Amino acid sequence: MSDPRVIVCAGGGGVGKTTTSAALALALAARGHRTLIVTIDPARRLAGAMGVPITDVVTRVPMPSGGDRLWALMPDPRRSMRTFIDHLFADEPEAKARVLANKLYIGLADAAAGVHELVAMNLVARAATDGDFDVIVIDTAPSRHAIDFVTYPARLAALLGGRTVSWIAGLAQRAGGEAPAPKGLLSWGTGRVEHLLARVTGPNLVRDTADLFGDLALVRERFVALTRRASELLLGDRVAYALVAAPTAAARDDVLFLAARLEKLGRRPRAVVLNRADTHPAPWARALREGRAVGPAITEVLDALEQERLSRATAADGLSRELGRQLPWASIVRLPYVEATAPEAIVAALSTELDAHLAALLPDAG
Ligand SMILES: Nc1ncnc2c1ncn2[C@@H]1O[C@H](COP(=O)(O)OP(=O)(O)O)[C@@H](O)[C@H]1O
Ligand SMILES: [Mg+2]
Repeated sequence: MSDPRVIVCAGGGGVGKTTTSAALALALAARGHRTLIVTIDPARRLAGAMGVPITDVVTRVPMPSGGDRLWALMPDPRRSMRTFIDHLFADEPEAKARVLANKLYIGLADAAAGVHELVAMNLVARAATDGDFDVIVIDTAPSRHAIDFVTYPARLAALLGGRTVSWIAGLAQRAGGEAPAPKGLLSWGTGRVEHLLARVTGPNLVRDTADLFGDLALVRERFVALTRRASELLLGDRVAYALVAAPTAAARDDVLFLAARLEKLGRRPRAVVLNRADTHPAPWARALREGRAVGPAITEVLDALEQERLSRATAADGLSRELGRQLPWASIVRLPYVEATAPEAIVAALSTELDAHLAALLPDAG
């Protein structure tokens, strides 16, 4: 069993990342790839339409074609931390109880930016180990900085694999009065740090911090193994980045910004997906125009619609050319505007379109 290939979809808010990711996963599954779609920021309506609950558990998605190769992981940002802790501390129930009651943990789980992404990626790492997937499609959060999360696991693994954790764990024991303080300069240094921290934050926070790291040190190996695996999946040689954009100036700027961030990480987007780039002429419009009884008012509406369709296509053509110049190594994939309101209908229509572009989006098998 080889590692799954990974496609990370990123882009500004509202451009259709979640919809496109779901459509891509559906198209891959329809071609026989065992596919997992992960949405870090699930859209409730879409999850409902796909028949998937928003939970931390990998769930099979019923496919319209009756296939059985599609799964979804849509962790709820509010609950995923708890699931992760349950897994991490599976063999350390007492430490787990302490962590869950730890005020710092409660604050972190609620507030820290990036915590959800990190936790979600650790859930993905676990799913990749347990689940035998061919491809994992990851739909990121709607933020310009969303792409940065790919570096969190590696950074955290380095931190946890290093000496910081033991040092803080040692601090924890002393805060609990269980171990003698180290001697010499280190003792002076840590004493200073504790004293300073306590002055700034109050004694309880120091204690909570020390306790939390002490308990984390107990499960460090499991934590490091998972974060390393997550990092391999996100930054290894079996990953491709797809940037999703709408044909607007703002979305173009988002794409160029994200491409520059990727470049900093030594990565390049494999593809740019221009969503809502084209409008197929509506069948009803053609039928109306061809009908005999069309009055001038209706002709005017039809002309306006046609104008809008043309200007959308012109904008998309211009954007395709510009992105082609700026990101010559990326394939440009154009997706139409789908005239439907039901999210599953839009996903189904886009997955049919994406079927012709799978090679442009999939990372090389390596
Ligand atoms: N190609 C498309 N044609 C028509 N509607 C679309 C298309 N792509 C996305 N949508 C709709 O646009 C809205 C936003 O899409 P979503 O995928 O949630 O965006 P994002 O994840 O980037 O915030 C949804 O209601 C979705 O159904
Ligand atoms: Mg989304």
